[in-house]
Amino acid sequence: MTPDELKALVRSVPDFPKPGILFRDITTLIGHGAGFAASVALLADRAAAAGAQAIAGMEARGFIFGAAAAARLSIPFIPVRKPGKLPVPVLAIDYALEYGTDTLEVDPGAITAGENIVIIDDLIATGGTALAAAQLLRQAGAQVGHALFVIDLPDLGGADKLRDQDIAVSAIMD
Ligand code: PRP
Ligand code: HPA
Repeated sequence: MTPDELKALVRSVPDFPKPGILFRDITTLIGHGAGFAASVALLADRAAAAGAQAIAGMEARGFIFGAAAAARLSIPFIPVRKPGKLPVPVLAIDYALEYGTDTLEVDPGAITAGENIVIIDDLIATGGTALAAAQLLRQAGAQVGHALFVIDLPDLGGADKLRDQDIAVSAIMD
């Protein structure tokens, strides 16, 4: 499937979660078997080209694409979790949201020092989530030089923020 055909499978929902936001919803993309498979294949090809030794995905929607791409490449998947979910001592990072802050956590035992971890998420908006994940993985000793997304919202500047931290960004569609 072409990127344009994949883009047509993403539903745009006005005024969610707040008035004025046009929400890009991947439920319809993953609900289309060939579209889901093609999206995962593209992400996996790009991760392989980036030399991925493991893939990290952010809860929750990053799990869908990241875990599928990791399985396709037979490499480990590292879940970057919302707070309080992991049953072991974690490495944590706080990051800014539009209002307030949130936290991401990872099991340091899931990361091998020096390995090349590629980040995968469904969407990059402000880049706050991906940047926090990259910082967390780097703190744990990983090399993070690539982040892959299904959707980039370029007007929000997230990809530029990552590139400023030496993270190459690529997305299937904007
Ligand atoms: C969404 C999306 C990204 C993040 C992008 O996740 O899946 O992870 O926001 O926004 P940013 O670039 O401005 O940080 P959300 O926090 O809504 O969680 P969910 O996957 O559990 O729905
Ligand atoms: N769609 C889906 N997730 C998002 C969006 C969006 O437009 N903005 C921030 N997270």
